[in-house]
Amino acid sequence: MDFIELVRKRYSCKKFQPDKAVAPEKLERVLLAGQLAPTAKNSQPQHIYVLQSETALKMVDELTPCRYGAPLVLAVTYNRKQCFTYPGDRYDSGAEDASIVATHMMLAAAEAGLDSCWLNFFDPDQAAKALNLSPDEILVMLLDLGYGAEGVRPLPNHEKTKDLGELVSYR
Ligand SMILES: Cc1cc2nc3c(=O)[nH]c(=O)nc-3n(C[C@H](O)[C@H](O)[C@H](O)COP(=O)(O)O)c2cc1C
Repeated sequence: MDFIELVRKRYSCKKFQPDKAVAPEKLERVLLAGQLAPTAKNSQPQHIYVLQSETALKMVDELTPCRYGAPLVLAVTYNRKQCFTYPGDRYDSGAEDASIVATHMMLAAAEAGLDSCWLNFFDPDQAAKALNLSPDEILVMLLDLGYGAEGVRPLPNHEKTKDLGELVSYR
């Protein structure tokens, strides 16, 4: 599929078919796309948790109302001890690295015919505790994966993009 066509096709799915599982080969392809993502200095500080057991999905539901019935959720974290630190020593690239990994996976999911939704509606401290993360591991996002329920459509704001003239400046 043409890349721009793929990017247009992806939308945030807000209702999944809970009983239609993600095939292991599709999941592997999605994870591979994340593995191939660039990270600052190729430090690869990310870790992906595949949440699909009944217990894990219940835990997700306690963190957020936004699983929307997805049968599988990926949690993307980074370890702040493993990532690049910007000159000045105040900021690191962990959120950028993890976001690129997550974006690769989200688009690979679309290419594999899966629906997805990127989630940040959770309390990071509560999530870190629930996922039993080490103090250096930061949860950046959750990614619902599965198949959209019958008749599910993108929300109207999916089509609304600011004009390029507003988003881009040439200097
Ligand atoms: C950083 C980020 C956080 C988001 N968090 C949530 C969320 O917690 N719950 C939700 O339902 N959608 C969430 N979304 C989905 C957005 O609301 C959605 O991407 C946006 O409205 C555009 O719609 P589209 O993805 O269908 O084009 C998030 C998206 C991004 C990029």
